[in-house]
Amino acid sequence: MHFFNKSAPIGIFDSGIGGLTVAKRVMSILTNENIIYFGDTARVPYGSKSNSTVIEYSIQDAQFLIKKNVKLIIVACNTASSIALDTLREKFDIPIIGVIEPGANLALETTKNRKIGVIGTSATINNKAYSEKLKQLDSKIEVFEKACPLFVPIAEEGWLNHPATKLVAKEYLQYFIDNNVDTLVLGCTHYPLLAATIQEIMGEKVTLIDSGFAASLQVENHLKGRGIRNDSVQLGTKEFYVSDLPDKFKSVAERFLGSELTHIEKIDVESLIVR
Ligand code: DGL
Repeated sequence: MHFFNKSAPIGIFDSGIGGLTVAKRVMSILTNENIIYFGDTARVPYGSKSNSTVIEYSIQDAQFLIKKNVKLIIVACNTASSIALDTLREKFDIPIIGVIEPGANLALETTKNRKIGVIGTSATINNKAYSEKLKQLDSKIEVFEKACPLFVPIAEEGWLNHPATKLVAKEYLQYFIDNNVDTLVLGCTHYPLLAATIQEIMGEKVTLIDSGFAASLQVENHLKGRGIRNDSVQLGTKEFYVSDLPDKFKSVAERFLGSELTHIEKIDVESLIVR
């Protein structure tokens, strides 16, 4: 068991830019924590890859952060959380928090009619990550799941209020309306960006669950519980690393986070591969 320095950074990784939705939540709750974010922009998307590839990449991403002496890792990517979390926890002696369990818990606390919908990448849905976790936590719950793969490129394209987004969302979400869910889990990093359109189609009575928000609350509790919450009064530092296209990442991230990225570095994918 390691003992971490309170001022050590929190590491966050994702397949690319989507994890910024999680990072933003963490930064707004844990303002004085130092953050190191890694986005694997050279190998995105993870959501259409095989389990063995997602596990291999996730191990490399975690190793990169561990070398930066982080005190905890957040697996912001739902696909990686669904497939690789257990392996990462077995392999590394450091607290690792995924987004599935916090999202499932928040959905269970929220639903009144016990009908929960889950949307995610094909990998997350095919692996039944949310439905198994939800059923494990409450065997009586009814879960309706559907992969919405087009939402990722739409969000990357910035079509947040585009008519095409509404058409696609209607097609995907009718299933949940037909099944009368009152809670819908946004089980992919990119989906909170489309929350306004999704909410419009689902109607105001349906509550959307942002797993990244739920995970950031769990991170706070975890740090407090282990006595490793940073006690600095300064605003935390933020470092960003990507495996490709740092300029694109920088402009999207600055627009999304609303602040300038002072430290952004491209790292070579080859250097992630530990032989
Ligand atoms: N980050 C992924 C997730 O949350 C979405 C993008 C991808 O497929 O890599 O599942």
